[in-house]
Amino acid sequence: MKKVTTSAPGKLMLFGEHAVVYNHPCIVTAVNERMYTTIELLETQEFLLEAPDVKVLDYKKNIKELGNGEIPKDAQFVEVTVKNVFEKYNLSHGIKVITKSDFSSEFGFGSSSASTVCIIKALSELFELHLSNKELFDISYKTVLDIQKKGSGFDVASAIFGGTLYFVTGGKTIEPLSTSSIPLIVGYSGVKADTVALINSVKEFSSKNPQLVEGVYNSIEIIVNKAKEEIENKNWEQVGILMRENQKLLQSLGVSIQKLDDMISSSIAAGAYGAKLSGAGGGDCIIALAPAEKNKDVYSAIQKVEGKILHASTNAKGVRLEL
Ligand code: MEV
Repeated sequence: MKKVTTSAPGKLMLFGEHAVVYNHPCIVTAVNERMYTTIELLETQEFLLEAPDVKVLDYKKNIKELGNGEIPKDAQFVEVTVKNVFEKYNLSHGIKVITKSDFSSEFGFGSSSASTVCIIKALSELFELHLSNKELFDISYKTVLDIQKKGSGFDVASAIFGGTLYFVTGGKTIEPLSTSSIPLIVGYSGVKADTVALINSVKEFSSKNPQLVEGVYNSIEIIVNKAKEEIENKNWEQVGILMRENQKLLQSLGVSIQKLDDMISSSIAAGAYGAKLSGAGGGDCIIALAPAEKNKDVYSAIQKVEGKILHASTNAKGVRLEL
């Protein structure tokens, strides 16, 4: 039976998290750790899913039942993505989906968004839909909103387009930055962040302090716009300084935690130009930028406070077919 394999990169938010949910820009880079999806057409009218990385094995459903009933959390993105594509393009065919990831779903690299993008690309190939990147984005973003209710869509844009993007909420702007690799240091906190819970806690804080939060978002926007320039100029010292400023603003929204703060301050004490959390906060990863000769010291400083160094290079290629 016909089958297709696609892959899409994970991502790291560089600047602008949280503000980007509310009509402000952010900068995101795709990392070279990828998610892979194989989809095979079946003779039966079944939807089968094997996602061994998240321990979903032998998950099975009639395709008429897609999206109905109790869906295990780790099967949600895959099932709702298939349902959305089938509904939009009037498809009905049994399929087997196998997902496999280079990275742990715990890191906050965006395994769900990368798998959504992989699946849509694979279905586009299998059913000859010839979807453009914009169409891929629209249906991926719909899937994110169906499941999470809130979110900017920056993660699916990164998985589709790859590279390093300047992105505004809902894909209003998706602009590739002209930069090659960014010499980022990535430290994993060991704590899994709950993005939806963090978005909701910021929303609650904002409802009590609307002017304060609007001010924070506007300041973040200024930092994002400045960082765009400095990244394109490869001025890593300035980019690091902007990271510190962005981190202070994230702290004022209440999304940082002690473990992240410790990793960040240790990185800076060890000679990094700057560091910040990356993503929703509450856990996941920090990113730091340091002069090359200080990298080893920064690695040790992060490890000393029990962070784990992740070796991920940036500016990776977007979604693609695998042969
Ligand atoms: C989460 O990684 C980043 C947030 O800005 C959410 C989003 O943009 O969808 C908090």
